[in-house]
Amino acid sequence: MPDHLTITNATIACMDASEDGYGLIRDAALRVQGERIDWVGPMADLGDTSAEAQVIDVGGRLVTPGLIDCHTHIVHGGNRAREFEMRLEGASYEEVARAGGGIVSTVTATRGADEDLLLAQALSRADALIAEGVTTIEIKSGYGLDIETELKMLRVARAVGEARPVRVVTSFLGAHAVPKGADADAYIDEVCLPALEAAHAEGLVDAVDAFCEGIAFDTAQIARVFDQAVALGLPVKLHAEQLSNIGGTRLAARYGALSADHVEYADEADARALAEAGSVAVLLPGAFYTLHETQKPPVAAFRAHGVPMAVATDWNPGSSPMGSVLLAMNMACTLFGLTPAEALAGTTHHAAQALGLYDRGEIAPGMRADLAIWDVEEPAELSYRIGVNPLYKRIFGGRA
Ligand code: NIG
Ligand code: FE
Repeated sequence: MPDHLTITNATIACMDASEDGYGLIRDAALRVQGERIDWVGPMADLGDTSAEAQVIDVGGRLVTPGLIDCHTHIVHGGNRAREFEMRLEGASYEEVARAGGGIVSTVTATRGADEDLLLAQALSRADALIAEGVTTIEIKSGYGLDIETELKMLRVARAVGEARPVRVVTSFLGAHAVPKGADADAYIDEVCLPALEAAHAEGLVDAVDAFCEGIAFDTAQIARVFDQAVALGLPVKLHAEQLSNIGGTRLAARYGALSADHVEYADEADARALAEAGSVAVLLPGAFYTLHETQKPPVAAFRAHGVPMAVATDWNPGSSPMGSVLLAMNMACTLFGLTPAEALAGTTHHAAQALGLYDRGEIAPGMRADLAIWDVEEPAELSYRIGVNPLYKRIFGGRA
């Protein structure tokens, strides 16, 4: 396998925060050495490539950074199609959860599945994302709610990254739901905190997440989980302000969170807090769509305060059974009013930031050569079509 790769005759969206939102260079080329981008610029400056081992002429196609899905729950057992039917018959997400469905029903299925089955199912979901040019996937635990199953989920998440050419980033989400019959505070002390410690000791945790909501945990309970994350040196992120505003976003900001996710019910003060903390707002339009929500995230306030916005699938069996980052981008534009440039920044540059990864999500010398090459002329086409996958080629760490 040659160590060098040159891509010629491309339109390149560098996603380097330049004024057009794309950092677009037409008639462009880029050089890769090993796993990293070495050079990017106009074809006119490329020089002679006749002696180069691997030159890919992409015939004017679009090159972007490999896409990053920065919020998923793709390791889980079972499915919740019956709940989909219940909600269509009129039950709300909260009513389904209180009736013993929702997250805790996926917990039962996940506890009952062995690692091989969980891995096989997670790989088929990862493959769907990879087929759309995704090169980095965040995967959460949170359907175990006991020590053994939380660790099992995280081991499976790590195994996805070993079985496929994709970088997996794990988030420990022990504080996702209160198990049936348990007391929330006792659950945090007796299960969640010991599970976090054990998972961290096994090297299974890259970040710590939680669900701050009336049907899950309050800010005081989550603060205890975050305190332990801080003690272990792990960054935090939070499912915040999805169904109501109970102060999750400000809590996340106080802990310098990588991101606050969902944030439909966040307000102006929350946007200011995220900006001051340097946290990313992760928008999850698949959950908004699936749950027939009407409260939209405060995109204008995020823009006004300079809060970076990421976009992700939130792929999970309940609120967002959606296996397409391109569809998430389309929905972020159509439902939340993002521009296509913001949507693409949301699945590249800002998604990388939401994961605390600063070596990807942008095309520039020194960045990882994780690239997606698309059969489109204009970058807005990636958000514009629905149910169409124009991926031409995907490159992971310099390997086509
Ligand atoms: O991100 N909000 C909490 N967690 C998931 C839902 C998980 C589920 O319903 O299974 C979410 O939407
Ligand atoms: Fe989620």
